[in-house]
Amino acid sequence: MCGIVGYLGERNTKEILLDGLKELEYRGYDSAGIAVLQGNDFANYKAVGKLINLEEKTKDFITKGFAVGIGHTRWATHGKPNELNAHPHLGEESYVVHNGIIENYAELKKELLADNIPFLSQTDTEVIVHQFEKNLKSAKNAFEAFSTTIQELEGAYAILLVTKSEPNTIFFAKEGSPMLVGINTEGEKYFASSDTPLIGQCSDVNYFEDGDYGYVSADEIAIFDRESKQKKPIFSKLTQNKLSAQKDGYRFFMEKEIYEQSDVISDTLMGRLSEDAVIFDELDKNLFDDIHEIKLCACGTSYHSALSASYLFERYSKIKTSVEIASEFRYREPIMSKDTLFIVISQSGETADTLETLKMAKKAGLKTLVICNVDNSSMVRLADSSILTRAGIEKGVASTKAFATQVTVFWMLSLYVAKLHNTLSSQEIAKQISLLREVPASVKVNDEMHEKMKRLSKRYLHGHGFFFIGRDIFFPLALEGALKLKEISYLHAEGYPSGEMKHGPIALADPELFTIALLPEHMLYEKAKSNVEELSARDSTVCVISPKIFTKADDFVQTAPHKDYMLEFFEMMVVLQVLSLEISIRLGNDVDMPRNLAKSVTVE
Ligand code: M6R
Repeated sequence: MCGIVGYLGERNTKEILLDGLKELEYRGYDSAGIAVLQGNDFANYKAVGKLINLEEKTKDFITKGFAVGIGHTRWATHGKPNELNAHPHLGEESYVVHNGIIENYAELKKELLADNIPFLSQTDTEVIVHQFEKNLKSAKNAFEAFSTTIQELEGAYAILLVTKSEPNTIFFAKEGSPMLVGINTEGEKYFASSDTPLIGQCSDVNYFEDGDYGYVSADEIAIFDRESKQKKPIFSKLTQNKLSAQKDGYRFFMEKEIYEQSDVISDTLMGRLSEDAVIFDELDKNLFDDIHEIKLCACGTSYHSALSASYLFERYSKIKTSVEIASEFRYREPIMSKDTLFIVISQSGETADTLETLKMAKKAGLKTLVICNVDNSSMVRLADSSILTRAGIEKGVASTKAFATQVTVFWMLSLYVAKLHNTLSSQEIAKQISLLREVPASVKVNDEMHEKMKRLSKRYLHGHGFFFIGRDIFFPLALEGALKLKEISYLHAEGYPSGEMKHGPIALADPELFTIALLPEHMLYEKAKSNVEELSARDSTVCVISPKIFTKADDFVQTAPHKDYMLEFFEMMVVLQVLSLEISIRLGNDVDMPRNLAKSVTVE
């Protein structure tokens, strides 16, 4: 995920910025850049890849005396990871760095282009600096131009801007993306998008709130709220523990990533929904022409999101869909026909088996699409088209937010195809889109649920195994719940379709067999309920997850009532993730790096 740093002070600004960016490396990035303004002189450097490339480019650049500087690590969302798209972005005499997404960038860009303002990059960010300079022409001063610009932006952002028209100042704004300013006894000021770059540099920090904007100079920190009322900074002592700061105070990266899901899904949706249509600017308009079948191929968690997608494509897009495990598909001499769209799904974009199937599909002349979290990964480079999931770097080996964003993309894609093929009415698409907008709220972890999982976890540390069961799209969710538990607790767990139990697995039922049953209100409730009752009757220990009170279970986790089964899906996904997390913590396992597993499986 992108990172921002800023500095005002007397020390060698380049070094401060690069050191700050290094502290953000753990978040993942594909390019980086800095801009330093000293008096009337700007210096700007950008490099693709690791920070060492930027260090190399800036090795002879030194500032002496007061200067202001901004820096950025970019995780590509709009536009390829190359130098032109790397931040800071230049206007005529100003530079900007930005985290988040400007939702109305296309409209703003259209107007700016009509005014003959040249654009160098494909990013949404570049509109900010041009819009600022346009406003500067009629504003009293740079701050007025900046305030006007911020009011014109829609979306999420943390922004730093420096300009020759006010050379000793950094302008900032925050809406939906984190940003803080720090101070120390030497009178220096620092900005960053998270605590870590400021540890060791600052004693006290002020965390900006959504809607805050303003400017910082050598002797002033001016903050204004959404209503343009000036407010005092509220400084608090900065923690000095870097690792815990990287985890934002969570015990494990996996826990942080579970809590992040609401924000990253907002990023996944951003700019891709209108009232009655899903917009994927990145897709060729003709991608689905002459396509009569979709084949999805992936491994592990990504395979489970592919299975989930098959329910959505057939239900909404009315298109025949099949799902394949990549390691099987690559050796089984499959028949591939040219009216099939071949979709691979991968968090990393590097999984060897999945990559191989993509090569096979290309060789067979099929149209290919990758749903991926890492731009410029091998799969993104190879596939004809790609959709990025925008989950940011995922550090926990057990995938959580990557799965959540993959399913979100598939839900959107199924509606995109439904509109193209006219398989859902426009009212139904509009309804589905309004449901999609509720996903970020449905995955917020509430304290009560987390506490309950902590307490429940102590009853599920032994036994001879777990069944996770569900019907319809809750079956792939059950598979995913079982995989999460297996990976980090080392307990035996299997996912099954609820209706399949009586065909064999129920023979295992006894009090030492734990069944985690998904009972959504809006998907085959009565059918799934009777499957659970069959297990209860055989004295299996059952934990039911449902919005509807269920009395025949040993444990019951009540989820919120939702209008639609997909929102129930997302909430139950979080419950399963937190349950696995708490069981693993109680067992004393290494949650983030479970034994025998690697984050990216680049070998067969
Ligand atoms: O990077 P990918 O999505 O291609 O990885 C596929 C699997 O290796 C991955 O999902 C794995 O199953 C995770 N450890 C699941 O938590």
